[in-house]
Amino acid sequence: MKQVYVGMCADLIHHGHINIIREARKLGEVTVGLLADKAIASYKRVPLLSYEQRKQIIENIQGVARVVPQETLDYVPNLRALKPDIVVHGTDWREGVQRETRARVMAALKEWGGELVEPEYTPDVSSTALIREVLQVGSAPDVRRRKLRRLLDLKPLVRVLEVHNGLTARLVEQVSVGEGTAARSFDAMWESSLTDSASKGKPDTGVVDFTSRLQTIEQILDVTTKPMLVDADNGGFAEHFVYLVRTLERQGVSAVVIEDKTGPKRNSLLGTDVAQEQESAEMFAGKITAGKRAQATDDFMIIARIESLILKKGMEDALRRARAYLEAGADGLLIHSKEKTPDEILRFCEGYRAMGAPAPLAVVPTTYADTPEDRLAEAGVRIVIYANHLLRAAYPAMRKAAESILRHHRCREADEVCMPIKQVLTLIPGAEG
Ligand code: SPV
Ligand code: MG
Repeated sequence: MKQVYVGMCADLIHHGHINIIREARKLGEVTVGLLADKAIASYKRVPLLSYEQRKQIIENIQGVARVVPQETLDYVPNLRALKPDIVVHGTDWREGVQRETRARVMAALKEWGGELVEPEYTPDVSSTALIREVLQVGSAPDVRRRKLRRLLDLKPLVRVLEVHNGLTARLVEQVSVGEGTAARSFDAMWESSLTDSASKGKPDTGVVDFTSRLQTIEQILDVTTKPMLVDADNGGFAEHFVYLVRTLERQGVSAVVIEDKTGPKRNSLLGTDVAQEQESAEMFAGKITAGKRAQATDDFMIIARIESLILKKGMEDALRRARAYLEAGADGLLIHSKEKTPDEILRFCEGYRAMGAPAPLAVVPTTYADTPEDRLAEAGVRIVIYANHLLRAAYPAMRKAAESILRHHRCREADEVCMPIKQVLTLIPGAEG
């Protein structure tokens, strides 16, 4: 009997999958190479179902003789190991990002005279589209909350972009660019104190209070499914912070980030001519512990942000605080810097690796913006936060449009810098109808 290999994600089974298996079965004994969670996460998204759950489904489908893990998007390692006579895949991979994968499969099959069979792709159904529809319905708080930990389990680097209202959040939800066989998108949202305040025309001094911040957070959660990290400044008094933890957790936020500063709130990227004071490590550790005790689930994360480098307190102080905050129960750390080069961040990473890097480390590379993600990831960074870019990108375009209307006494020329209304509508689910 001929050996037939079928590669699949099988995250959301539909009749298209069944059709492929039925066709494969006519040709011989079917082995399904089931893509590992990490392989799926590397090119589209974290799967809804775990590998074990997907395996259970597939091995119970009639005609499947066995299921083996396919650890990479690339079929070749499994194909070389199994040397099947036939590989079966729908015609869809002849176009688009999967073309390269297909070419590699054909080259490998040639090595032992294997054959590729491509049944017609079942029209009008794709799991990616189905999943998009499901996700559009929104995410229940429990499901969304645990997504950040899941991402950290499955991806070497979690990529986060700032949002400050529903529309910017829709953009983060949808934007993606193709790169080789993969699609790159943002994994999560950063609800920034700076851009939330700025979008309300207010300074980043805590004047936009948490009642307002929570409304914005709710507005964003209402129209998205990706996990959210909330910038909660210094978290307020420990007695108040515990309430904030519970509220954010209940809303479905995945992590709160609090910084070890005290006194009047100032944005960290302002010069040090505006006095900024650091909280004692002991006091801040106490706040972390209080927050951890207050949370109701294991999924929610408290990330402690260390301001020692911003405040020129030195590397030793930063690392000492890292240790203290983790001992206090922090689930992750954020080390901030406003240097133009990543040198001090990389030195911190070195020290943190020497400590065994026991929890995920986040950075905000606004000022050392030349640094590519790979360099940060190599140093051990697990979360990179682009903290303010949507707000900063929008304002110059708005200004241009406003000036153009004034200059031309009409709005035709302003259209050049404006998105067509139709495109605005596609950002918003249900708005077309
Ligand atoms: C924010 O986005 O509000 C932050 C990051 O806290 S930073 O502005 O760099 O301090
Ligand atoms: Mg902030």
